[in-house]
Amino acid sequence: MSLAVCPGSFDPITLGHLDAVRRARAMFDEVVVAVAHNPAKRYLFDAEERLALARESVTGLDGVRVELVPGLLAQYCADVGATAIVKGLRGAADFDAEHAMALMNRHLTGVETVFVMGDPALAHVASSLVKDIAQHGGDVSDLVPSAVAAALHRALSNSGEAR
Ligand code: PNS
Repeated sequence: MSLAVCPGSFDPITLGHLDAVRRARAMFDEVVVAVAHNPAKRYLFDAEERLALARESVTGLDGVRVELVPGLLAQYCADVGATAIVKGLRGAADFDAEHAMALMNRHLTGVETVFVMGDPALAHVASSLVKDIAQHGGDVSDLVPSAVAAALHRALSNSGEAR
């Protein structure tokens, strides 16, 4: 049984993330969407909210589940016996950011990272842009699952701005 781990902050999960998850699932028997912590980021949604939105968004995707990774991603992959980490790339800038993480994760536990090229029709979709657009009253309904669009609306109308 092959298992892929698709990690990320998922703040929030987008249609671009789901495209990568589907591509991973086409190659591996099981996929774990791993909601992890990136200390470089200030999150709009807390970990439980990111987890819940990701879970709702993968409903109906056979062989895909969502888990919280509170610690090191490489250790989590070793613990669950992951075959590989799978990451989607939108372009060269993504690769530059991912390259060091892939090498570090392999250094830590030997886990390999497999990169998939995302759908070019979604190359403009990034969680940071989605939040910025939602915060300025723009329409994100074709960028994120409907539950995420609703959660963005709720979060931003509660706070008046990104938390
Ligand atoms: O969506 P992001 O923020 O680009 O995802 C980055 C993430 C969360 C996958 C990365 O920061 C991560 O793996 N965090 C978990 C802690 C860890 O293992 N850090 C070392 C990474 S080499």
